[in-house]
Amino acid sequence: MESHAAAPRGREPEDECPGEVLERERWTRTRVGLGEPRVRFDWEAAFGRSARRVVDLGCGNGLFLIQSGYARPDTDHLGVELVPPAVRMGSLRAGQRGLSNVKFAWGDASEFICERVEPASLDEVHLYHPQPYYDRAKIPRRQLGPRTLLAIWLALREGGLFVFQTDNPEYARYAHENAGQLFEWRPRKAVWEDAPDGRTQRERVARAQGLEIFRVEARRLPLEPREAERRVAGMMEPDFDANKKGFDGRSPRGEGGGRRGARRRT
Ligand SMILES: C[S@@+](CC[C@H](N)C(=O)[O-])C[C@H]1O[C@@H](n2cnc3c(N)ncnc32)[C@H](O)[C@@H]1O
Repeated sequence: MESHAAAPRGREPEDECPGEVLERERWTRTRVGLGEPRVRFDWEAAFGRSARRVVDLGCGNGLFLIQSGYARPDTDHLGVELVPPAVRMGSLRAGQRGLSNVKFAWGDASEFICERVEPASLDEVHLYHPQPYYDRAKIPRRQLGPRTLLAIWLALREGGLFVFQTDNPEYARYAHENAGQLFEWRPRKAVWEDAPDGRTQRERVARAQGLEIFRVEARRLPLEPREAERRVAGMMEPDFDANKKGFDGRSPRGEGGGRRGARRRT
């Protein structure tokens, strides 16, 4: 387990946003709409250029995007987030910093990656601290599962990067046991060199609470699409017990005897 100093009293770890607020004339527009359901996202229209593409699925207040946007002006960054206040905060912060390569969209990131992305069109997909959802009724909302793993694999260019991070050990275990079918799954213990204090708000909060952070850099395996689909058909659904009091981890189909907290896809 990593040890980290607690945040100073009265100050949340998420207060630290990279960069500086510029004078108003230099603010940029950083909100973008997704448009009608299932319509492909037009990157060139949104960013006014053709560049490397990075997506953050469930980006929260966008700390990673802002930090990466500064560090990589040659790369376009899109965050998709369900909660409007988080979208507002991220887009305001990025806009006040004059970033033109970072945009925020309000919407369902799972729908985005499954329905709105051209195959082999993204360079990186990032998923930081997806909600574990302890309530059994909310399991279908978990962001990482066979369908989204295949969608991420399809969306990435050859050799593309998938970054996954969580502070929930059961989520980490689920991802480790399944995602290796499509990605070269490389867990790393070390903090990110580009963001030693944490890439995202949740990472900073979890570290301040003394939680272990599971970080993975995964490279897309060079598979034929039919082989990728075959592998996905054998993956577990993410119905693991996220390990909080009150969670009922029983399989809805009564399929006992499998690996703990997961059942095979049928
Ligand atoms: C625990 S927070 C982590 C936020 C951020 N990635 C971080 O690490 O600080 C999970 C985030 O995922 C968002 N979220 C959950 N399901 C989503 C979905 N289907 N589409 C977009 N955002 C989603 C939540 O609104 C929330 O902001």
